Amino acid sequence: MADYCVAYYSKTGTTQDMADRIAEYLNEHDVSTEVKDLTTLNDPAAYRGMILGGPINGMNMAAEYSRHVERLAGKFPPVLGVFAASITYYHGRKMWVNAIEKNVSAAAHALGSSRWGIFGGRSENPMPAFARWIFGLPKDMPTDTVNWLEIVNWIQGILAELREEPAR
Ligand SMILES: Cc1cc2nc3c(=O)[nH]c(=O)nc-3n(C[C@H](O)[C@H](O)[C@H](O)COP(=O)(O)O)c2cc1C
Repeated sequence: MADYCVAYYSKTGTTQDMADRIAEYLNEHDVSTEVKDLTTLNDPAAYRGMILGGPINGMNMAAEYSRHVERLAGKFPPVLGVFAASITYYHGRKMWVNAIEKNVSAAAHALGSSRWGIFGGRSENPMPAFARWIFGLPKDMPTDTVNWLEIVNWIQGILAELREEPAR
C-alpha cells in the first residue's frame, strides 16, 4: 500500500485522468501515492494523507462525490487538497465561476484543507446554444479545457508542503 492516496469520483473519466496525473507526479518525486475510486474506498485512515477530486455538476461537487465523502466522515487522514473538473470554469460568466470556486473551496474546508483547485473539464459534444447562453460560454469553446500545467502547479504546492512536514 502507498503512503498517500488520490481518491476520485468520476462520471466520464476526466477527474480520474487528473487523479492519475497527480499521483504520477508525486511518485516521480518520491512520494509513494496510489489512486483509488472514492466509491469503493473504505479505509482512508490507512494513508498518511489524501487528495480528493470530483467533477462539477450543477455548479457544485457532484452529488455522488459528496455522498461518499459523507459515508467516510471521520475516517479521513489529513486532507492535502480537493480538486474538481469543470468544463465551464475557464470560460464561463464570472457569476458561475465564483459559485464553483465557493463550492470547491467549501468542499476542501469541510475536510480541514485550505487547498483547492479547479482545472477545466471535458464534454463529449460541443455545448448546445442554450447552455452557452446560460453559462456565458464562447461559441468556439473547445470540448476539452483541461489545463494540465495548472494541475502540475497545484501539485507542486502540495509537494512543497509535504517536504516541509517533519518526518514521522
Ligand atoms: C450532469 C452534468 C452536469 C454538469 N454540470 C456542470 C456545471 O454545472 N458546471 C461545469 O462547469 N461543468 C458541468 N458539467 C461538466 C463536467 O464538469 C465535465 O464534463 C467534467 O469533465 C466531468 O468530469 P468526469 O469525467 O470526471 O465526470 C456537468 C456534466 C454533467 C454530466
